[in-house]
Amino acid sequence: MKTQVISPENLEEAIHFLKNGIPIAFPTETVYGLGAQIFNDNAVEQIFAIKGRPTDNPLIVHVANLDQAISLSQNLPPIFFRLAAKYWPGPITLVVEKDPSISTVVAGGLTSIAIRMPANPIARKLIAAVGPVAAPSANLSGKPSPTNAADVLEDLDGKIPLIIDGGECSFGIESTVLSLMEETPILLRPGSITKEEIEAFLNLKIAEPHRGTLIRSPGMKYRHYAPRAKIRLAFSEAELKGYCIIPKEKTLYAEFRKADREGASEIVIDCTKKISSALMNRIEKASKTW
Ligand code: TXA
Ligand code: MG
Repeated sequence: MKTQVISPENLEEAIHFLKNGIPIAFPTETVYGLGAQIFNDNAVEQIFAIKGRPTDNPLIVHVANLDQAISLSQNLPPIFFRLAAKYWPGPITLVVEKDPSISTVVAGGLTSIAIRMPANPIARKLIAAVGPVAAPSANLSGKPSPTNAADVLEDLDGKIPLIIDGGECSFGIESTVLSLMEETPILLRPGSITKEEIEAFLNLKIAEPHRGTLIRSPGMKYRHYAPRAKIRLAFSEAELKGYCIIPKEKTLYAEFRKADREGASEIVIDCTKKISSALMNRIEKASKTW
């Protein structure tokens, strides 16, 4: 299959593919997504196959408005509406009870569903035209998420018909994932919207993931975001030898991919300055050797 990279002015072709059950890649403000209409199980199954993603790792469903979010879920707690009003559209995903009518394929067999309203205008136009779109990051499973169209092409060339080129993502790191399935919200994945910021807004404590959370967020048990090169953390100037990068949320994944293209065997991460918890989370996952 020939993969076209198209400019976002004309979304007709992208809409056509989605409506016909064929996954395509599109930009969001966090990272690029590989999307399919959520009501088409076959299309959603193709997403798992294209990425080589384990089928028990559920996908985030992207919505254009609050009504769509409500239609996918049930028993939404008041805190959901407060968070949605404050942060949507934006880089935060909320895990809530799934409406039983929604297929378990998208939810990886869980009774919950992860929902996000992206801010990127191209993503919003697309979702407004086709309805809720399930979309994981548009990389091969385990690799760093793509933050521009060329990086999507590097992983998915020949596997999908179309990539919408929306330029560089403004955040460059995946959304914060917060579970509202229990009384106390649980931070399943740190992101640009920080735990501290959400705690201050809600005026309550958010729980950190603990061992049992592995089951709640299947994504946490897999190696992620990883370049081919080995990763070494340098905490002092003396350790800064070799292929060094200064980690930044917006550029980390692009730097990982660049190092691989340049054939670096080791990437040294400069940890001598303060690193956000979202960034440290990705670096730790990428440094795992399993
Ligand atoms: O910024 C983002 O979130 C990007 C863009 C495309 O929106 N998407 C993204 O999707 O990062 P993905 O599939 O790469 O990561 C989704 C994460 C996984 O760790 C998954 O396990 C978790 O969300 N997740 C999805 N549904 C869940 C659920 N029902 N319960 C717990 N965790 C869930
Ligand atoms: Mg991903």
